[in-house]
Amino acid sequence: MTDQATTTAAEPGTPEIPGKPTSASRTTLSHIMTQADTNLLGTVHGGVIMKLVDDAAGAVAGRHSGGPAVTASMDEMAFLEPVRVGDLVHVKAQVNWTGRTSMEVGVRVLAERWNESTPATQVGSAYLVFAAVDADGKPRRVPPVLPGTERDERRYQEAQIRRTHRLARRRAIMELRERRAAEGFDD
Ligand SMILES: CC(C)(COP(=O)(O)OP(=O)(O)OC[C@H]1O[C@@H](n2cnc3c(N)ncnc32)[C@H](O)[C@@H]1OP(=O)(O)O)[C@@H](O)C(=O)NCCC(=O)NCCS
Repeated sequence: MTDQATTTAAEPGTPEIPGKPTSASRTTLSHIMTQADTNLLGTVHGGVIMKLVDDAAGAVAGRHSGGPAVTASMDEMAFLEPVRVGDLVHVKAQVNWTGRTSMEVGVRVLAERWNESTPATQVGSAYLVFAAVDADGKPRRVPPVLPGTERDERRYQEAQIRRTHRLARRRAIMELRERRAAEGFDD
């Protein structure tokens, strides 16, 4: 089992937020690729897929957090196979992990021919961090996600590893910049 909380810790004068199962916000967005989606090589532009990924992840983050959520970062976007005109693309997204005000959303991209009954193959994947925000755009608390299956549990644990690495990388870069500024570099 993970050590995830089942409620978000209350701040003085505010109520705890009960957890929500992963399955409550899991979403699939499907789209048929057309000529309008191609790059100069004639296959589907990576940016078109990234937009669908961001859309699906945003829907999941909004559903989980019960309100507006913005993309804070997108990492590990992998393109495994080219996507072609006439492919029916399915973008499957779920909340993998929650912090205090942020959520990691995991996305898998699958493609199948729109008019054939062959199985869909995975063509991409990505991890995005969304921050839930209030009406002023300030981060607000999110319900803890409650993994419902062993797979959800594994994804939660892997997301914690990514979170640790993101924070460590950001800290290391900030420290480097401060050191260089202290040494008089103007870059
Ligand atoms: C994301 C945003 C709300 C964070 O605001 P902030 O004042 O830096 O707030 P915080 O530092 O408290 O961060 C809020 C949460 O987001 C997480 N976060 C912030 N920046 C992050 C980043 N680059 N990567 C991963 N997580 C990040 C923090 O870890 C924190 O999570 P936690 O509360 O679960 O620990 C703010 O930077 C923003 O509005 N960015 C623009 C978002 C946007 O417009 N996206 C669409 C692009 S067109």
